[in-house]
Amino acid sequence: MKILITGNMGYLGPIVTRHLRSTYPHALLIGYDIGYFGNCLSTADMFPDCLVDVQYHADIRKFPANILRDVDAVVHLAAISNDPMGNTFEEVTLDINHRASIDLANKAKSSGVNSFVFASSCSMYGAADDSARTEKDPLNPLTAYARSKVFTERDLKPLAGKGFKVTSLRFSTACGMSERLRLDLVLNDFVTGAVTSKKIEILSDGSPWRPLINVNDMARAIEWAIGRDAAKGGDFLAVNVGSTAWNYQVKDLAEAVAEVIPEVDVSINKNAQPDKRSYRVNFDLFRQLAPNHQPQVDLITTINELKAGLESLAFDDKKFRNSKYMRLKVLTELREKGLLSDKLEWITKNDQ
Ligand SMILES: NC(=O)c1ccc[n+]([C@@H]2O[C@H](COP(=O)([O-])OP(=O)(O)OC[C@H]3O[C@@H](n4cnc5c(N)ncnc54)[C@H](O)[C@@H]3O)[C@@H](O)[C@H]2O)c1
Repeated sequence: MKILITGNMGYLGPIVTRHLRSTYPHALLIGYDIGYFGNCLSTADMFPDCLVDVQYHADIRKFPANILRDVDAVVHLAAISNDPMGNTFEEVTLDINHRASIDLANKAKSSGVNSFVFASSCSMYGAADDSARTEKDPLNPLTAYARSKVFTERDLKPLAGKGFKVTSLRFSTACGMSERLRLDLVLNDFVTGAVTSKKIEILSDGSPWRPLINVNDMARAIEWAIGRDAAKGGDFLAVNVGSTAWNYQVKDLAEAVAEVIPEVDVSINKNAQPDKRSYRVNFDLFRQLAPNHQPQVDLITTINELKAGLESLAFDDKKFRNSKYMRLKVLTELREKGLLSDKLEWITKNDQ
């Protein structure tokens, strides 16, 4: 068994790699990542990228098909991975997230890859009324990031067929500890605010709905998708990944953090423009298809895990919203230092 994991050097990557290492102990794991956040480690222990057998530091927009020789499964995580980056680098986001993904899938199909797993997002539901969105509901992407996921799913569908199984996992918003922690995710932000300054600042009015999922449960869903039976979900499957109990309003998340971490002040931005991105999600299909890979980690456990992780790092940066754990901040700094071009390609000495 050979598994290629693109975008393995991000937030999910180390968790997914470790999980696949334990569930497929004899598999050859290949990592492929441009390395934007290679330095953004949140561990003093083992370098997480050592968990793959082979690591390529390269751009998914220039993916050499020969890497796919004898590869059985592709786990495609590489992406410009949130709305703030997508808004700042709109065309690049579509290039990396959509065009390069379809190019990779075409190459994977031609090379005889059996299972292609795409990290999609529930953010494609955008603004939804009170009823929880199912996979059959209309999509309403509000940002370049969400549109890139919609376009990719649309163009992956016709590629799927006998011998080439495609699974688009529409993930809830991630949370939890990782060796490359991100603090631009709602629950991670709240716990960090509580730990560092006893303050949680909600940037919206707190009303938007968001489904959440722990990173370890995302890894378990990816493991399921690699090996799932196409006779049940079809050669192409787009499925919401999360659990109904994890549909929260942002203010409820803040209150849960304040319950675990005492004497925390929660402030809501009453002047905030209403956040249109609000959706509840129905996870019945995932429960039906993947009964043995359902999310296991609950909200309180995740908050405690993040708290313990930050404390073990003696993390005390009250200005963490300006730190290397914010994806957009890192890309902007690399651009300002002249290390990345406006297309987010590394600039080498030879280019200057
Ligand atoms: N974190 C979440 O809440 C969440 C939710 C739903 C879906 N997803 C999806 O899961 C995937 C992983 O998310 P994450 O949180 O780990 O993001 P991340 O930003 O931490 O990691 C993305 C990785 O992709 C790499 N990458 C970006 N552009 C590349 C390119 N041109 N060539 C090669 N590598 C490139 C980056 O270097 C980075 O290591 C993404 O596709 C994201 O859209 C994440």
